[in-house]
Amino acid sequence: MGKGLSCPAPHEETKVAQLELALKYIDTQLRAYTDELKEWVRIPSISAGAQEDCSAALTRAADFAVAQCTQLGLRADKVQVSPDTNPLVVARSPSLSPERPTVLIYGHYDVQGVDNPRSAWTCDPFGAGEKDGCLWGRGSSDNKGPCFAHLKAAQALRAAGELPVNLVFLIEGEEECGSRALSQFVAGGGLDEFGPIRCVLISDTSMYGPDRPSLTLGLRGILLFQITVHGPRQDVHSGLFGGIIHNPNQLLVRALASLHDADGRVRVPGFYDQVQPLSRREKAVYDALEVDEAAYCRNLGVKQLIGEPGYSVLERRWARPTLEINHLSGGSPRTVIPARASAVISCRLVPDQDPEPIEAALQQYLRAQLPAGTEVEFGNSHSSPAYHLDPDHPLVPRALQAIHTGFGLEPLLTREGGSIPIVTQLHQRTGAPVLLVGLGQITDNWHGPDEHFSLRDFHRGIRTSAALLCALAEQ
Ligand code: BES
Ligand code: MN
Repeated sequence: MGKGLSCPAPHEETKVAQLELALKYIDTQLRAYTDELKEWVRIPSISAGAQEDCSAALTRAADFAVAQCTQLGLRADKVQVSPDTNPLVVARSPSLSPERPTVLIYGHYDVQGVDNPRSAWTCDPFGAGEKDGCLWGRGSSDNKGPCFAHLKAAQALRAAGELPVNLVFLIEGEEECGSRALSQFVAGGGLDEFGPIRCVLISDTSMYGPDRPSLTLGLRGILLFQITVHGPRQDVHSGLFGGIIHNPNQLLVRALASLHDADGRVRVPGFYDQVQPLSRREKAVYDALEVDEAAYCRNLGVKQLIGEPGYSVLERRWARPTLEINHLSGGSPRTVIPARASAVISCRLVPDQDPEPIEAALQQYLRAQLPAGTEVEFGNSHSSPAYHLDPDHPLVPRALQAIHTGFGLEPLLTREGGSIPIVTQLHQRTGAPVLLVGLGQITDNWHGPDEHFSLRDFHRGIRTSAALLCALAEQ
């Protein structure tokens, strides 16, 4: 890659020099950058699963992002989209020059809770300690560290000249709880004032592995809802009434147990109808990636991997839809028949599955598994379709070249199994491709205890972002 470049035009030469300068500057600033990142990680900006009110910390984390953006010469605002949402940080180049393309960078400053369980943490979740070449703490990898890499890349480019692109940063505080404010902001035309967007850049995915940087071509979508089965007016004694009334726990688990067949395929009619198989080309790319099943088992603490017959581990993780029961509740560990039983169910969706008919089919199927007359309720539903970038998109080779510059390693093309619902909306609204350049590892313990982020990847991530911003400036 990168061979055979002909003699660059004069302005290209300045850009090359600017990148070289910025890369050198980044090397000298790494210690300072890490210390600043620690400050951000120390702020307990929990948006999902908090034990207490975190709004003050969320505001402080947003203020930190605003200060960072201001410091690099952007016009930054903390936007209160509605009274009950967390602040949204919107920052932009003061003038959006028509000479330069505009790049939108997305990240999130909110983090997951720490009761996963709390006793399983071996470090202080908000201590931001350094050990084994990593920064440890909730949000270090999901997503403060990777988001900070972009802020620092922009700052380094600024130190070496003018920014090669117009920049817009959207740093939200609700990624872990539904992105309501950002979604409302985007739907309400909040992006319109920025004009045409050349591309959206996001580091909220993972790399294929240590020293295996990657460009992620796709994310799975998601469909999530809660089901509640109702029974007697209140919990009642199971000795007094057992045998004459339905038990909501039993009705619910029976219905849930019918969702998959013995091979793990989803039995809901129509579930797979719209599933777009992988192209031969993409399948060949993923088939060529090595997969160490024993390492997955070791890392996860399981005896074996399971899944749909006929599909590889990566296909099952990235390109096949799934249905999981995330949470079950009902009754108490005493001799009662509970008044109600609930479950949270989520599906990961792939191109071209449309969440709406799938939600309808699922709920109809579940209803049909319950005895006639059972009172059942569906709630808390949200969904977002999958995202996919055409591997032939002209920005793909440029992005790969920039990752190569940043890491000094040949990047891979991958997909991911997780979801970033706002990605689909940003893509639909701007028409721009979304470049997903993950800087975390799948072993960074996102959403679990002892989350951490490799500082070496932080360094190489800043370099990559600087190279990307220069590469995206080229006409
Ligand atoms: N960073 C993740 C998204 C992700 C996860 C990308 C795994 C690639 C691989 C993000 O913070 C996240 O956890 N998203 C949620 C969204 C959901 C709550 C709507 C997810 O995927 O569960
Ligand atoms: Mn994230």
